Amino acid sequence: MTPSRRTCIKKLSAASALAATGGVQTVFGMPAYIPNLKKISPNDKIRIATIGMGIQGNYDTQAALRNPDVELVAVADLYDGRLAHAKTAFGQDKDLLATRDFRQILARPDVDAVLVVTPDHWHDHITIEALKAGKHVYCEKPMVQHLNEGKAVIDAWKKSGKTMQVGSQRISSASFQEAKRMVQAGDIGPINYIESNSDRFNAIGAWNYSIPPDASLTTLDWDRFLGDAPKRAFDAKRFFRWRNYKDYGTGVAGDLFIHLITGVHFVTNTLGPTRIFSSGNLAYWKDGRDVPDIMTSIMDYPKTDAHEAFQMVLRVNFANAGKISNVTRIIGNEGTIEFSEDNLILTKKKLPVAPGYNGYDSYFTFTPEVQEEFKKQYDAQYPPETRVAEPVKEVKFNSPKDDDAHAKHFGDFFKNVREGSQGTIEDPVFGFRAAAPVLACNESYFEQKVVHWDPVTMTKKAPVVAGAKKPVKKT
Ligand SMILES: NC(=O)c1ccc[n+]([C@@H]2O[C@H](COP(=O)([O-])OP(=O)(O)OC[C@H]3O[C@@H](n4cnc5c(N)ncnc54)[C@H](O)[C@@H]3O)[C@@H](O)[C@H]2O)c1
Repeated sequence: MTPSRRTCIKKLSAASALAATGGVQTVFGMPAYIPNLKKISPNDKIRIATIGMGIQGNYDTQAALRNPDVELVAVADLYDGRLAHAKTAFGQDKDLLATRDFRQILARPDVDAVLVVTPDHWHDHITIEALKAGKHVYCEKPMVQHLNEGKAVIDAWKKSGKTMQVGSQRISSASFQEAKRMVQAGDIGPINYIESNSDRFNAIGAWNYSIPPDASLTTLDWDRFLGDAPKRAFDAKRFFRWRNYKDYGTGVAGDLFIHLITGVHFVTNTLGPTRIFSSGNLAYWKDGRDVPDIMTSIMDYPKTDAHEAFQMVLRVNFANAGKISNVTRIIGNEGTIEFSEDNLILTKKKLPVAPGYNGYDSYFTFTPEVQEEFKKQYDAQYPPETRVAEPVKEVKFNSPKDDDAHAKHFGDFFKNVREGSQGTIEDPVFGFRAAAPVLACNESYFEQKVVHWDPVTMTKKAPVVAGAKKPVKKT
């Protein structure tokens, strides 16, 4: 840290201008909640704090710290065991603040950026408060829990002038970048269909994570965990396996479809679908959860300047006892790309102009005279060069062994923080355009309806009723 910055932070701490309680506080007579467009000097360390030190909080923190000149100064979590674990895992610096109350972190002027890695129902609240407190934010996916929460996050981000990155880190992998390059170069022609599945068949994969035996109202803050969710008596299963309950999580759509959709939006430059329909079932994990373990969703992406109209079909089956082969496949008129995090295969296959005849065709059912006439016309219409298909071509791309998508995703965030820029690869507008369709999948499943979405304005639309008369324009 530069001396000037250290002095400034000392002064701020001495003034204890940002106490942890609400209300507008002041720093040197200025409101604390003002947009701060200041760059961080390349020589300065970016000081981060992680809010939510569970499974992903640990992985995110490690990935963030694999970037140079980044320092962890504080963590927040609601379970004391995780605070103690974080102190051991990351607290080589004895000063690491570990607190149950994330507001204490937001009040610290020496925290530049926070990682929001809590259950989904807390994402919007903490993100908005952090932006208002002048922090840069890395928020885990899905950016929000419900469709009506996205706009407030986007507004807070715009108003703050701060950098924000949403955490579907796979789009920072070399293979997703390569898939985007290929699609944008027209290597598979116009896209017509995308399919992707993410099946599993094991208890941990189905979110039944281990519950620590000391979980109790003494060792964790149950009331704060509930947040804006309905009040209820303490239940350790809900705290540690929150994905299984729609009060806190976003089901298979928010947990897994979100990665698939984020990848597709990144690769195709689409703004999103206009019609979303889901169906599903709770088939196997009947352990008290209230979200389905099987879900298939169909989405219609309309033609835009960026792409032709295409359909996308996504599936998760947590009860797939058969052979599991998860893949994302982008199908175009001239080829396909199958891709995962580490590699992709492009298969180019362009049809000849001439359609051909005979074989399993109606040609043989014609009389000989008609067949003769058909041949004559066909030969005139299709010269030999129109009858040859380009040879099928396969291109394999393997990500470099040291490709670290997770660290790179944070790297993009930190680069923008240093430059005082809001232009991350997955900013909140992109993040919400990816989250909204998956949240609509849940709405479609639970309310048994087609959800109509306007991806440009990012608002829900009224369904188009077949046969309904258009209002007559008065002249
Ligand atoms: N990008 C990815 O690949 C990826 C992978 C896994 C999880 N995630 C996301 O990360 C988030 C966390 O998932 P997880 O698996 O780590 O969950 P987890 O249950 O392991 O950890 C969540 C932690 O948040 C803490 N917490 C809850 N409310 C809090 C609050 N108000 N203040 C401070 N701490 C709070 C809990 O005590 C808990 O320890 C979710 O949004 C999830 O979707 C992303």
